[in-house]
Amino acid sequence: MDREFVELLNVKIAGCTACRLHQGRTQTVPGDGDPNAELMFIGEAPGANEDKIGRPFVGRAGQLLDDLLAEVGFTRPEVFVANVVKCRPPENRNPQADEIGCCEVYLREQIEGIRPKLIVLLGLFATQYFLPDARIGQVRGQPHQTGPWLVLPVYHPAAILRNPSLREVTQQDFALIRPLLAQSERPPQQPRPSGHSHGPADDDSQRSLL
Ligand code: URA
Repeated sequence: MDREFVELLNVKIAGCTACRLHQGRTQTVPGDGDPNAELMFIGEAPGANEDKIGRPFVGRAGQLLDDLLAEVGFTRPEVFVANVVKCRPPENRNPQADEIGCCEVYLREQIEGIRPKLIVLLGLFATQYFLPDARIGQVRGQPHQTGPWLVLPVYHPAAILRNPSLREVTQQDFALIRPLLAQSERPPQQPRPSGHSHGPADDDSQRSLL
């Protein structure tokens, strides 16, 4: 994905009023990192710090994510980090199904543009985006192929902050990242509907890809 594409998409996200979350945001948090990364992370939603700064995972959960990444030899600029929803839910409540539905077009554009070899799913909301009935405790640490995408569900860093006993198992899950990257190929470019511009697709034809 080239940087111009990222910037156009970010402008589109910044102007989005598709769901109620736009009313309470300071700014959108589209995601950031290397638009050609082989490794992508998807979290849940921006919190207060992210809403203030406009970048994902900049608070305590972000520091923990950086630490987990460093342990397996990655820095943040080498990967791409996004969230299921791009605006902060009020009082940090869970994003609702219709809000996730409104934002889906943007995440899909990001995934299809980046075409990462591996997508690490941080917590339940990112996991259920790909594996709708999954329970995080049951699927974490197990790579799944969903359509063209290889995904690895792990506990959300915020869950580890609340329950530090989850850290060790998450370190083990992060240790799978390098071997999985070594085994996997970058998925091929996804077909786009004819006449498709940089805007979100408005038909259903690509939903099955996720
Ligand atoms: N938690 C998330 O899921 N995303 C962020 O960007 C920050 C905290």
